Formats: sequence, C-alpha cells, structure tokens
Amino acid sequence: MNLATTVPVLTLDGPSGTGKGTVGQLVASQLGWHYLDSGAIYRVFAVMAERANIQPSDLIGLETFSNTLVIKFESRSNSIAVYCNDIDLSEIIRTESTGDLASLYASVPVVRKSVLNLQKQQRRTPGLVADGRDMGTTVFPDAKYKFFLNASAEVRAERRYKQLKVKGFDGSLSTLREEMRLRDDRDANRKTAPMVMADDAKEIDTSDLNIEEVVNRIINIVRNPTD
Ligand code: DC
Repeated sequence: MNLATTVPVLTLDGPSGTGKGTVGQLVASQLGWHYLDSGAIYRVFAVMAERANIQPSDLIGLETFSNTLVIKFESRSNSIAVYCNDIDLSEIIRTESTGDLASLYASVPVVRKSVLNLQKQQRRTPGLVADGRDMGTTVFPDAKYKFFLNASAEVRAERRYKQLKVKGFDGSLSTLREEMRLRDDRDANRKTAPMVMADDAKEIDTSDLNIEEVVNRIINIVRNPTD
C-alpha cells in the first residue's frame, strides 16, 4: 500500500466566507497536523498566468506554463507564506480580485490537473487538514474525516467585508455580496471537480457559530468518532 494513503486527512470544503481558512489552520494546529490551503495554489496560478498574459481560454499555453511553476508554502510565526518561483506572493494573492481570477482559471480542467499532484504531495505524516472546494470529492476522496462548511450568503458577505475593510477595501457590501455569489456559482457549476458536498461529508452551518465553536465541533468529532 502507498504510504501516503495511510496518512489521515481531514477535508474542509465549502463556499467563500465560511471561515474554512481560519478553522482549518486552528484544527491543524490542535491536531498537530499539516495544513493545505488549496485555494492559495489556484490564486498563485492565476496571478502568475495573468502576469505572463496567458488567458484562461489558452489551453495549450496554460499546460506548458503550468510546468514552469514551482509553488512552495513556508510557515511563519502566525501565517503561511506562499512563494512561486521564489517570488513571495503571500499578500497579492489575498485580494478579492485575485480570488475571482483564481475561480476563473480553476474552472479550466488542464489547470486543475496540473495542481493535483502538488496537493496530493501535501499528505504527510502525522496527518493533513485540507481546505478547498473539491478536497473531499476529488483530491482526497478517501479522507478519514470530511466536513462541508456553509453559512447564509448574507453572513458570508458580511464576514468577508469585515476582513477586507481591515486591509483598506473601499467597495460596498452589496457589490461584494454579488461578486461572491457569482464566484460561488462558477465554482459550484463548473464541469470539472465542482464545489459540491461529498456524500460522506458532515455539513456544518457556521452562520450562528463563532470560529472557536466550529473548531470545537470538528475536534470533538475527530476525538470521539462515535458521537
Ligand atoms: O478558497 P479560496 O477563496 O482561496 O479559493 C479561490 C478560488 O480558487 C475559488 O473561488 C475557486 C478556486 N478553488 C478551487 O477551484 N478548488 C479548490 N480546492 C480551492 C479553490
């Protein structure tokens, strides 16, 4: 048996603004496991492809281009730095426009194929918490624990609005809500690996829960699997 497949994985899928990133990092830290932010990979891909002027419609260009990218994560004291070809992209990838661009490139099958191995390689002992849209369905279908985080569109937009405000965002809440709706629709309706809850995932509606409550719920399930 491949050693990697014996390493336990916990997947956290769901739309934007459900708290997956923060929850995922806290769960990983409490379990002492590694953490994979798969969205960051798509964000990096999008930034680099746009800089190289390769459009989402240029399938051959994207395939060749994907072989030139070396993406690395590096843990810092309270964040995770993301590099591509030794360029630090940690800040630029976090903007809302990069998220939208990432969703566009992520709908292209050749792009998804090119990052699949990189994602699978993150499965390292003693375990992995993987956050994204297709972690439980496509990348780690044999994951031991699967969760799908959700929340009302209103709550998700408000959360994201507050996060972005701190970083100087000056757009309106209603525009942001509409942009998030379009992005989630694209992610949920693409042909390859759409964002969908795995049949064996547990759904957690985080609308009325704070981060700590979501983390505790997940940790309880992992530590008391029969509950
Ligand atoms: O989780 P995020 O907001 O950083 O993701 C940005 C975009 O990347 C998201 O809108 C769709 C895409 N994505 C994906 O298609 N599959 C994943 N596993 C993670 C992200």
